[in-house]
Amino acid sequence: MRSIMGPLAVVVALSLGCAGEKTEPKGKGTAEGTSGKQITIGLSLDTLREERWQRDRDLFVARAKELGANVIVQAANNNDAVQNAQAENMLTQGVDVLVVAPHNSKSAATIVAAAHKLGVPVIAYDRMISDCDLDLYISFDNLKVGELQGQYAVAQRPKGNYVLIAGAPTDNNAHLYRQGQLSVIQPYVDRGEIRIVADQWANDWQPIEALKILENTLTREQNRIDAVVASNDGLAGGAIQALAEQKLDGKVLVTGQDAELAACQRIATGSQSMTIYKPIRALATRGAEVAVAMARKQPIEGADQTLNNGTKDVPSILIPPVTVDRGNLVATVVRDGYQKLEDVFRDVPKEQWPTP
Ligand code: BGC
Repeated sequence: MRSIMGPLAVVVALSLGCAGEKTEPKGKGTAEGTSGKQITIGLSLDTLREERWQRDRDLFVARAKELGANVIVQAANNNDAVQNAQAENMLTQGVDVLVVAPHNSKSAATIVAAAHKLGVPVIAYDRMISDCDLDLYISFDNLKVGELQGQYAVAQRPKGNYVLIAGAPTDNNAHLYRQGQLSVIQPYVDRGEIRIVADQWANDWQPIEALKILENTLTREQNRIDAVVASNDGLAGGAIQALAEQKLDGKVLVTGQDAELAACQRIATGSQSMTIYKPIRALATRGAEVAVAMARKQPIEGADQTLNNGTKDVPSILIPPVTVDRGNLVATVVRDGYQKLEDVFRDVPKEQWPTP
């Protein structure tokens, strides 16, 4: 087989084998590929740092098991070379389909090329893989995520000084979020109602970068900041830490995304204004189902949208995201079983808890 990284990379991947996990099917049925052998899915994740990715992994594996398929899971710790090597290693192990949440939306195209050489289809999971002959994309409507963040911000703070903190520049989603945010905010800027006082990217979505961006901007603007449009909850957390140093937490509007427990707790106590809830169960279970169908060479149901990745209009399944603030925390993330009421309102006196 053709190597995408050279033999050294395979050795790297094998020595990182402890990050991998092979699941054995428990149910009676086993999913069989076209050759009659049991299906094995390679799930290649960029990171497990944010709470959501652990849910993605667990729910994906559980659904695949129900369908009788094996899953090999590997996470690349924000490293393109490691992710490419891990994918190469999964191909060597004979996976029937690769499901990839890329660290780098562009360089992951080599994974697709290597898989296709072996006739293995590739599904981009949550994050698009650009400039390649990708088979399927399954995600949320990420442009919409950015629009919802922008709409929330301008509805609450139609005038004032804004800080934009985008995600990792290597992640196509980060670009979509920013594009969605600006589509809403830019007309306010053009009318002179909103002034963008900082507009920066956070490498690898690191909360510490958001903390530094905010500290610097607060100093430069003498604390005159009205809104922070942070692209996810991790970045919101970093920004809120800097605001708290200046006793501005709860006063400045802060957006987020992912409905992480820490973010939901901040919404409950008032230091974060909103988050975006993306029902991960829907994505992960659907992801496992389409992976099994693709391995069986069956038609994919519901891929009724397309998203251009620079090379082609990729058949896509895009799940709608939901805006969450203190007013609908219970009706959304709690009622959906995503977070528990007692965890979310842990720091709020019990007599002030909303009724479930
Ligand atoms: C995901 C977000 C996540 C971020 C950092 C994005 O691609 O869509 O849910 O917070 O990556 O991992």
